[in-house]
Amino acid sequence: YRADTLSVFVIGASGDLAKKKTYPSLFALFAFHYLPEDFLIVGYARSAKSDDHFRDAIRPYLKHPHSELVDQFLSHCYYRHGSSYSDEQAIETMSKQIAIMEKSTQKTVNRLFYFAIPPVAFVPAAATLKKKAVGHTGWSRFIVEKPFGSDIKSFEKLNNDMSAVLEEQEMFRIDHYIGKEAVQNLLVMRFANTTFEPLWNNKYIDSVIISFKEDFGTKGRGGYFDKNGMIRDVVQNHIMQIVTMFAMEPPARPTGDYIRDEKVKVLQAIPAIRKDDCITGQYISDDERREPGYTEDEGVPDDSKTETGAAMVMYINNSRWEGVPFILRAGKALNESKSEIRVQFKKSPGSSLMFGAVDSEDGYGTGQEAVERNELVIRLKPDEAIYLKMNIKAPGLSGDPVVSELDLTYKSRFPDQFSKLPDAYTRLILQVLRGDAATFVRHDELREAWRIFTPLLHSIGRGEIEPIKYKAFSRGPKEWDELCAKHGFVYGGASYHWKTT
Ligand code: BG6
Repeated sequence: YRADTLSVFVIGASGDLAKKKTYPSLFALFAFHYLPEDFLIVGYARSAKSDDHFRDAIRPYLKHPHSELVDQFLSHCYYRHGSSYSDEQAIETMSKQIAIMEKSTQKTVNRLFYFAIPPVAFVPAAATLKKKAVGHTGWSRFIVEKPFGSDIKSFEKLNNDMSAVLEEQEMFRIDHYIGKEAVQNLLVMRFANTTFEPLWNNKYIDSVIISFKEDFGTKGRGGYFDKNGMIRDVVQNHIMQIVTMFAMEPPARPTGDYIRDEKVKVLQAIPAIRKDDCITGQYISDDERREPGYTEDEGVPDDSKTETGAAMVMYINNSRWEGVPFILRAGKALNESKSEIRVQFKKSPGSSLMFGAVDSEDGYGTGQEAVERNELVIRLKPDEAIYLKMNIKAPGLSGDPVVSELDLTYKSRFPDQFSKLPDAYTRLILQVLRGDAATFVRHDELREAWRIFTPLLHSIGRGEIEPIKYKAFSRGPKEWDELCAKHGFVYGGASYHWKTT
């Protein structure tokens, strides 16, 4: 694609997503020299705007120490508008005008359509673009964003309608969690090291917790959020993507459908979540009222039962994972912003007899758990890190075990690369340009993920599950910790704190 001409059409050019993610990522690719020499960025939306107005509107989102680079990028940016996202005439005119600029390069032309529009507009926009704007010499690819339905039925409808218009290989369904450094690293960490893969199963792993925490509430987005809730917003998609990358069998090749086939198999082995296995929560204001309660947010009904957080347990019923609880925890307005995977290994056999309390009569160990369990923590954000909590002898004259860790904090280990780690969207857009769909969600992954959550979501929708109120900036309801404990997770956070290096 680097030798060709590329035109990127951002459909829904003025939206939040486009401004915060699409343009900055395209700009990062430009700054890292990953865009072809001949490229155009064309914003398309409903409001009338000149090219210069458009450039001024996106400029504040493009950050670089060399402002001439920003100017250079902006000189490739254009704007067109129409009465809707499927305005045939406006789209045809836009396509023809851009084609004149493309032709002047005398190269093969590839066109990328980035949908930053609401899902109701997906199908009509795709149909119109397909009819009036796809390229004729190179490829045409479409990036689409969630939500892909709100349960299995609405997903099937959207998917059928979309696939009547676009081929599966033209459609790149983004889930930006797949593009995160730590999620991409799972493949290499698991399958390129002898140390982890033999332990990566129910013989050695006792439980896995995947948590997603944000220390802010819905901040005016409440009206939109209320129709979805936390499970649709992050669990069914982002967290399940982590589950599948974490739990899948080794793919035959680290690419395309080989990976997606393995991910689907993980999902197929997960039964639908029962409502007894999930505890939903909803934040209320903290005592100092730094954060207003969820139902105080604009557009949220006073009696809303929408969850702003949830903790749940699921099992992957295959030979590798049978019996290992996967505990998923996600919440808004919690005590910190953090996403991580916490793998708790089984108690080290014999360790309590050797290091634990000794019976005063016969001098043998009593068997009380004496040392902490090994825990492997993979931190996705804020600062990427992998650390393994392990017991070592207290340094010095004492022989007692203490907890320390093998630590691979990216910031200190890769100081040069750390500040330049690409945003997930940057990595994913590059993969589309390269034509590798491995980091995008296939229809059958979505279908399975919706199957797992639909009964639970319907119970919540019918108001059958009362969310437990938790104060903003707390750890969430105490019932979440109790759920973890009930499934064998031993919380060490009270006595041990990992200090980032
Ligand atoms: C989005 C959700 O998909 O992911 C947001 O809609 C959430 O509610 C966001 O805040 C989290 O993404 P990140 O990359 O900031 O962890």
